[in-house]
Amino acid sequence: MHPSLSKVLVSEEKIAERVAEMGRDLTEAYAGKELTFVALLNGALFFTADLIRQTDLPSRLECLRVSSYGDGTTSNGAPRLTGAEGMDLKGRHVLLVDDILDTGHTLSKVARLLATYEPASLRTCVLLEKHGRKQVEFQPDFVGFHIPDEFVVGYGLDYAQRYRNLRCIGVLSEAAIQAG
Ligand code: XMP
Repeated sequence: MHPSLSKVLVSEEKIAERVAEMGRDLTEAYAGKELTFVALLNGALFFTADLIRQTDLPSRLECLRVSSYGDGTTSNGAPRLTGAEGMDLKGRHVLLVDDILDTGHTLSKVARLLATYEPASLRTCVLLEKHGRKQVEFQPDFVGFHIPDEFVVGYGLDYAQRYRNLRCIGVLSEAAIQAG
């Protein structure tokens, strides 16, 4: 285990297994249609790259940059978005993809924004849904894993821009948080 983790929550093998399963679910749900993935950078970069390759559909990819955490571990509830200008979503089947749903502010805000582009359909997909911190009533359509209220890193998730490259998803140790 990486020395900055206090435990591994989801192993590399479990992630791969579940992402393949989610890819099959999407392939079935959108059979005969083209799907436009909208990935929220930076966190959902790794998940989206794997997920899109586990689907067997004509697909398109758009990316939006979102930041809500600064360098801490508590959401400030005010995500900032860039890159939405000129997205071609009108009349398309759109799947908004994020790494984790925590308070719900980010996904609900971005979903509202994407709806203004008049997609044919709009659904949301997250790898992780964290329980116990929801502030906005928002239920994603596709969820990889349900996790407890702990700050996690790895597989795209960061703390102060670090640990994204860990292959598993783990809980950051108190010592690593203190050390910054
Ligand atoms: P909200 O609170 O808006 O948060 O649902 C969603 C965004 O917050 C980030 N987030 C985390 N990032 N470990 C992280 O590295 C976590 O435990 C965590 N919880 C929330 C994430 O970027 C997500 O897009």
